[in-house]
Amino acid sequence: KKFLVLNGPNLNMLGKREPKIYGKQSLEVLEENLKKLENSFQVVIDPFQSNHEGVLIDKLHSAMNEYDGIILNPGAFTHYSYAIRDAIASIDVPVIEVHISNVHAREEFRHKSVTAPVTAGQIVGFGLFGYELAVKALAEYINRGE
Ligand code: DQA
Repeated sequence: KKFLVLNGPNLNMLGKREPKIYGKQSLEVLEENLKKLENSFQVVIDPFQSNHEGVLIDKLHSAMNEYDGIILNPGAFTHYSYAIRDAIASIDVPVIEVHISNVHAREEFRHKSVTAPVTAGQIVGFGLFGYELAVKALAEYINRGE
């Protein structure tokens, strides 16, 4: 099985960006740590990050032929990008949405996700560990469907 870990805008700034909210660990280290799970879950994990909505949409489209599942943190696009929502709905690949912070405990505009309704589920508020939980959840979700 092959999983895509897709991070959206500003997540390249992990470690530097608002560390009280997002922690001190870089995206690079997060991606390295996720790769370490490959053996135990018998999966290949490909990380990708972009700050651009269209690039994220293209990546979601091309994932259709390449991946069995997607772990997606759409960043702020979560709250308003109907285009990303439609891209998720367009593909026949399960998506798990991850948010590092507990968006529900933050500003009002972060309480709504326009993308979550077209995903398999959402993991919110457990810091970078949420991505590991998502790998486990995705493997389980795919096995259940087979
Ligand atoms: C985030 C939450 C979003 O509201 C924010 O815009 C982000 C990161 C999170 O992982 O907690 O960029 O998706």
